[in-house]
Amino acid sequence: MGDKVSYKDLGLVNTREMFARAVDGGYAIPAYNFNNLEQLQAIITACAETESPVIIQVSKGARDYANQTMLRYMAMGAVKMAREMGSQIPVALHLDHGDTFELCVSCIESGFSSVMIDGSHLPYDENVALTRKVVEYAHQHDVTVEGELGVLAGIEDEVEAEHSTYTKPEEVEDFVKKTGCDSLAISIGTSHGAYKFKLKEGESVPPLRFDILEECEKRIPGFPIVLHGASSVVQDYVQLINRYGGKMEGAVGVPEEQLRKAAASAVCKINIDSDGRLAVTAKVREFMANNPGEFDPRKYLGAARKELVELIKHKNETVLGSAGKG
Ligand code: G3H
Ligand code: 13P
Ligand code: ZN
Repeated sequence: MGDKVSYKDLGLVNTREMFARAVDGGYAIPAYNFNNLEQLQAIITACAETESPVIIQVSKGARDYANQTMLRYMAMGAVKMAREMGSQIPVALHLDHGDTFELCVSCIESGFSSVMIDGSHLPYDENVALTRKVVEYAHQHDVTVEGELGVLAGIEDEVEAEHSTYTKPEEVEDFVKKTGCDSLAISIGTSHGAYKFKLKEGESVPPLRFDILEECEKRIPGFPIVLHGASSVVQDYVQLINRYGGKMEGAVGVPEEQLRKAAASAVCKINIDSDGRLAVTAKVREFMANNPGEFDPRKYLGAARKELVELIKHKNETVLGSAGKG
């Protein structure tokens, strides 16, 4: 175990104030996953340029990939980079889909300002007990905690669920009261990854279950609700990938209008990972195909990073409504 540090010394903030403002303002804070330098540079550049508050989030797999000590300094560097750009946007560093108390503690000790404890696959009482335990520890360090009720289909950090289970609105009030969590992820029809819906010829994407969202909102008015699995699976990227040697037939996501509607309601955090992955892969494939003699990673990763900046600016400005709220 490395040395302990508080997120406050890294220039980060927890999510409490950004969520309160988002709930009141009818927009959602973007939570972008990152694993490497170029993704983080793109997130900070785009959010500083659009003046959007931001949550930079790391899955367990990303933490293993990037190294926890490296991550701490990357997050600190991200805040400094934003300030050098002349921007004062709040930046939170969040653990995405934490699966144990010990992982949450380790992240808090290494400078995370927010953690998710995902007990959604557990029996209700066990989910409550685990989330409560994390909250008790986290709040001693002024770190905010996201819990989850309801299971999303797809891969949730190495745990694969074939079918989703929608959140039961009758459980949310009790869960929030008993756990003391600061925000709650719910399941209303989104799913992780690039294949969110299996559509037959001529079928269109089914609408999200806004009725469940409304029922939840009624029971916990003003409480921050989180939407996972919220990539749109941008079709331009899927087409580029397929054109340049990839194979992603049938990749489809949540239409932007539905995310806009969610962001205007009680949803105040929207998680986006897959769209960023698609942007990077599309641009790297395109670059490689058009520049077969190039072998400098800065060239193809630079092209990917540039595209990622444009994608994130677009999300902040026209989907989440977070631009200008920093
Ligand atoms: O919810 C899952 C995120 O997209 C993270 O994915 O576990 O492959 O890093 P990962
Ligand atoms: P997507 O796979 O839709 O980008 O969802 C990401 C997510 O929910 C991360 O927790
Ligand atoms: Zn998720």
